[in-house]
Amino acid sequence: MIYFDNSATTFPKPKTVREASAAAVRYSANPGRSGHKLSMRASEEIFRTRKAAAHFFNAASEERVIITLNCTSAMNIVLKGILKSGDHVVVSDMEHNAVMRPLEGLLKNGVTYTAAKVFPQDNDKTVDSFRKSINAKTRMIVCTQASNVWGIRLPVERLAALAHEYGLLIAVDAAQSAGVVPIDIMDSRIDFLCVAGHKGLYGPMGTGLLIIGGETIPQPLIEGGTGSYSSFFEQPSELPDRLESGTPNVPGIAGLRAGIEFISQYGTERAFRHEMMLIKRLYRQLSAMKGAELYMPEPDEKHFVPILSFNIRGLDSETAAKKLSSYGIALRAGLHCSPAAHKAVGTEKIGAIRISPSVFNTVQEADRVSMAVRQIIESI
Ligand code: ALA
Repeated sequence: MIYFDNSATTFPKPKTVREASAAAVRYSANPGRSGHKLSMRASEEIFRTRKAAAHFFNAASEERVIITLNCTSAMNIVLKGILKSGDHVVVSDMEHNAVMRPLEGLLKNGVTYTAAKVFPQDNDKTVDSFRKSINAKTRMIVCTQASNVWGIRLPVERLAALAHEYGLLIAVDAAQSAGVVPIDIMDSRIDFLCVAGHKGLYGPMGTGLLIIGGETIPQPLIEGGTGSYSSFFEQPSELPDRLESGTPNVPGIAGLRAGIEFISQYGTERAFRHEMMLIKRLYRQLSAMKGAELYMPEPDEKHFVPILSFNIRGLDSETAAKKLSSYGIALRAGLHCSPAAHKAVGTEKIGAIRISPSVFNTVQEADRVSMAVRQIIESI
């Protein structure tokens, strides 16, 4: 199989990731709850992951790395743990439902939002459109660092500066950018970085991170046992326990640490270069085909991450993906849980076919995708 669905989750996972998860299943017990060897070993695994993530994203301390189920749960903690009635939020018009659905849910609590238009390859205009969307009630800017559909990169450092200029918080959805582009949370002054553990960080599914860069700490969404301060009914105020309750996913977390080590050793910049090379190659091949509909300008390193969505004229995206699947090609069609991003480009009715590579994809695989697309176009 040729797997080009890495924006959904990277596949295959590196051997070290599989081994770390398997070892945690075999050799660990409930962390932080008991003093015996197997429990201690699990606590150690979790601490190592926190430390690796803190180092990778330059967090101020390990305690500021909150381990979550996925990027969506990290985003829910931020939005529901911070926003109150009367607060207004500025989002981009490219947001995933991980942002849009919690915000829609918060409307009934008196929270409002405005979607700022993103201008591909024009960061000045994008920043300006965010600035114009700020009003007296705005509390937070929430934006994706890279669209999971179009690969458009948002200037999050500039948006963080804009947020601070107005005394606002900024939360960044790094589902598609963590492990793909370098992120320094302290340097970029991002208050909340929401991360998927199973995409560019190559960890197992069911892992994510919330990294807290600023001084504001969200109210917990989930409360319960932490293994600490057990005599108190109140949730502990210390991080990370304040935001982590219940038995954690130790095998996943151990695998996530191995994933972070994998991409650190491989090199984020090297991974980015390799994947962009594949995407640019595919873009050029597809743009030479009359029946291929590309919606974006040719991707460049400054304004895009390696994700390419397109359509085959005359076919809806699901049908096209099915046809590609008969060539052994795995990719994602439809709306990618991001109806807003499709609406912004006008593909909300037919969706699009998305190609998203990882470090394991090759030039030969990319060429087989364009060959298959060519044959499908010729057969229509
Ligand atoms: N949000 C993931 C994607 O874009 C699952 O496919």
